[in-house]
Amino acid sequence: MKIIDNIKELKNEIKNLKGSIGLVPTMGALHNGHKSLIDRAVNENDNVVVSIFVNPIQFGINEDLDKYPRQLNLDCELCQKAGVKIVFAPKVSEMYDDDKNNLTLICPPYSVVDKLCGKSRPGHFDGVCSVVAKLFNLTKANRAYFGQKDAQQLFIIQKMVKDLNFDIEIIPCPIVREADNLALSSRNKYLSENDRKLALTISQSLFNAKKMFQEGIKQKRAIIDACLKLMEQLDVEYIEFVDKNTFEFQDEANENTIILIAARVPETNTRLIDNINL
Ligand code: PAJ
Repeated sequence: MKIIDNIKELKNEIKNLKGSIGLVPTMGALHNGHKSLIDRAVNENDNVVVSIFVNPIQFGINEDLDKYPRQLNLDCELCQKAGVKIVFAPKVSEMYDDDKNNLTLICPPYSVVDKLCGKSRPGHFDGVCSVVAKLFNLTKANRAYFGQKDAQQLFIIQKMVKDLNFDIEIIPCPIVREADNLALSSRNKYLSENDRKLALTISQSLFNAKKMFQEGIKQKRAIIDACLKLMEQLDVEYIEFVDKNTFEFQDEANENTIILIAARVPETNTRLIDNINL
């Protein structure tokens, strides 16, 4: 496995690869959720590139860019064991010019960013799309793997690929959870013991919502009220129903519904997201 920190060397290595290339873009602090994407990519491609880059332009000014967990050595060990060919872990200066206000960006339309995570994180998806497009260009990947954990991100990337005719296949991968159903996230490292317990009410709400739907309850209000009751100790930023094909809001649940939640836990104020497909 090669660990590469600069674009010139990456381009050279990519040129010399034979066969298909799978890309797994990450911000590191790899856990079993990331690993499920990496394992799938290794299974389905001759070569796998994992990028590890805490992308500054997708963080807002008051967000956790500085304290975001960084553990490159451990991450490389995981990648090596999984059969990855290249870890691309560039410095910020390698990816962006100094003047962050002078970059060409990919800006998805309001229809998809002016809601859910995009609403509270202005510019976030511009940063995500721009770095992902750079990674697509640099790696010339045939396939790229994204988790359904970040459902809005996945939808926006799929739209970008379609709208801009990127020659790449996007492979959605299911959410990996702990035994008690907490969705794995690099940000779970921030949680205190009590926060971790309270964080469970997010997945409990989602699984309970799915059960209600399976029992025949379709009214959004009834399902949301039940969720909010379970999450009463959290600061819920949003709980919404969207159609998985269009990401438009729905007034009633159906088999195309994704229910999405973003909430903060009280002690550490960590912001967590999760969702479920009905
Ligand atoms: P990051 O949060 O590191 O996630 C990298 C990939 O892992 C994303 O596609 C995410 O959806 C997936 N992932 C995270 N937790 C998961 C879980 N519990 N189950 C399944 N998949 C999971 O998302 C980003 O980084 C960045 O925005 C990035 C796309 C790399 C652009 O900077």
